[in-house]
Amino acid sequence: MTMERTFIAIKPDGVQRGLVGEILSRFERKGFKLIALKQLIPSRALAEQHYGIHRERPFFNGLVDFITSGPVIAMVWEGDGVILNARKLIGATKPLEAEPGTIRGDLAINIGRNVIHGSDGQGTAASEIALWFKETELNDWNPADQIWRVEN
Ligand code: RTP
Ligand code: MG
Repeated sequence: MTMERTFIAIKPDGVQRGLVGEILSRFERKGFKLIALKQLIPSRALAEQHYGIHRERPFFNGLVDFITSGPVIAMVWEGDGVILNARKLIGATKPLEAEPGTIRGDLAINIGRNVIHGSDGQGTAASEIALWFKETELNDWNPADQIWRVEN
């Protein structure tokens, strides 16, 4: 088992379209554990740091405008292999290429309005969790039904 944590954010389009419950339930039903959750309107500095790797890309300013345009649901999820598995649940960056059954495949059409973000590896997961959350906002807890989710 590789117990991991990842950073997931429902982007402003997902919040505005009322998809928060639908998206949360997909992670819950899969069996991942919610470690932290908050709603915030990201500052420009936060958004620019979060998407810093794309700073030179032509879509960067539009992406930062979009992410700072309204409330975002920022989350940390924990589980065995959660980083790559969350990316599978999310689906391909271009929603029209995302498989049906994935969040983007089912709920989005446009690459610039693709509903959700997920960390793409161990390094980005650690740095994004630290960027969006204080250590004291991360809750260690044991779900009462945990024994039914893992092989003992
Ligand atoms: P994310 O970081 O948001 O989870 O998305 P991703 O890993 O699937 O894709 P990434 O390459 O990191 O791109 C970050 C976000 O930038 C926007 N984008 N727009 N107009 C374009 O060509 C374009 N390319 C990327 C998307 O919103 C994408 O999610
Ligand atoms: Mg990315």
